[in-house]
Amino acid sequence: MKGGGGLTYAACFTLLTCALTLLANPEYDPKILQVTDNHHLLGTAAELRFKSFAQEYGKEYSTRAEYLHRLGVFAENLIRAAEHQAMDPTAKHGVTQFSDLSAEEFESMYTGVRGGAADTSENGVVAEEMEAGDLPESFDWRERGAVTDVKMQGSCGSCWAFSTTGAIEGANFIATGKLLNLSEQQLVDCDHACDAKEKDACDNGCSGGLMTNAYKYLIEAGGIEEENSYPYTGKRGECQFKPQNVAVKLANFTTIPINEDHIATYLFHQGPLAVGLNAVFMQTYIGGVSCPLICGKRWINHGVLLVGYGSRGYSILRFGYKPYWIIKNSWGKRWGEHGYYRLCRGHGMCGINTMVSAVMTQTS
Ligand SMILES: *[C@@H]1O[C@H](CO)[C@@H](O)[C@H](O)[C@H]1NC(C)=O
Ligand SMILES: *[C@@H]1O[C@H](CO)[C@@H](O)[C@H](O)[C@H]1NC(C)=O
Repeated sequence: MKGGGGLTYAACFTLLTCALTLLANPEYDPKILQVTDNHHLLGTAAELRFKSFAQEYGKEYSTRAEYLHRLGVFAENLIRAAEHQAMDPTAKHGVTQFSDLSAEEFESMYTGVRGGAADTSENGVVAEEMEAGDLPESFDWRERGAVTDVKMQGSCGSCWAFSTTGAIEGANFIATGKLLNLSEQQLVDCDHACDAKEKDACDNGCSGGLMTNAYKYLIEAGGIEEENSYPYTGKRGECQFKPQNVAVKLANFTTIPINEDHIATYLFHQGPLAVGLNAVFMQTYIGGVSCPLICGKRWINHGVLLVGYGSRGYSILRFGYKPYWIIKNSWGKRWGEHGYYRLCRGHGMCGINTMVSAVMTQTS
């Protein structure tokens, strides 16, 4: 990952295509073959499911053509959910509020970490490896009051801003005992900070960004406002940041080494951590511990917040009990497990360990 930007990107693409090729290959798994074999049955069955989906999520399509187009995408997503189910048997995959979006639409609208691959050496200070010591078997910052309600980024690739505010909200809570909702919109409108190494990886509103860039911007800007004083609109607008409204000031940030035991130690001692991951399995995720057989580790496209971990996520299938991470997403409470995702821990799953950062607030 220390190579030039071009090389890094090429490597990401190779891995991504490889994972998708396996997904699309019907011989790969007999369950997928069955689904494709029954393709002709999907016609009416899919339309019935589509109608109840549209009703449940209040979807309206303005023209017949749009309706038919979305029905087609929905039918493809039913197949994709079945493929994901076969690839990820410890989680439950199916219809979500994103089931009428193609994978490309979904990726551009709901994810949004720019840069593709992590860089743990050039951004901020790399934290010292921390001794694992005596960590509890499971730990959850939500139970300590350090995590705000699940938010909704809408169709704006601003996940990086939500990941950033989540980390600061946690750090501020730990420093002051007060939980504040902080402003993603300030970052969407005002932050154009660029990566130290890849100069064209700059924070860009609804078109993506990086949490480490956002910390740098906030250190320079003098801090971050509360959600109330700078509310979220889900669209990029003029910067309206007012220094007199700053609620939290940042002192510093660190990136965390990739060892997942160390990450757990940091999480426990420092608070919720901003992380990037590959979100390919999240569009169809409904619940359970996601532990896909294959999930590209180097194609990081989504920013989220690590808030805890558990040691025994039960699965009926061959995997038995699995340790997992608890991850706060920004797609509203109706997505996943009340807005949260559980991902198996200890395998660098979906690149969860490659773009991890912690932030320190100023306490004066
Ligand atoms: C954060 O905002 C949400 C939505 O407006 C609200 O329900 C929640 O109480 C707020 N939390 C805090 C800690 O202010
Ligand atoms: C940032 O963190 C590094 C290492 O932890 C420390 O040496 C440095 O003094 C910190 N900077 C500020 C402004 O606190």
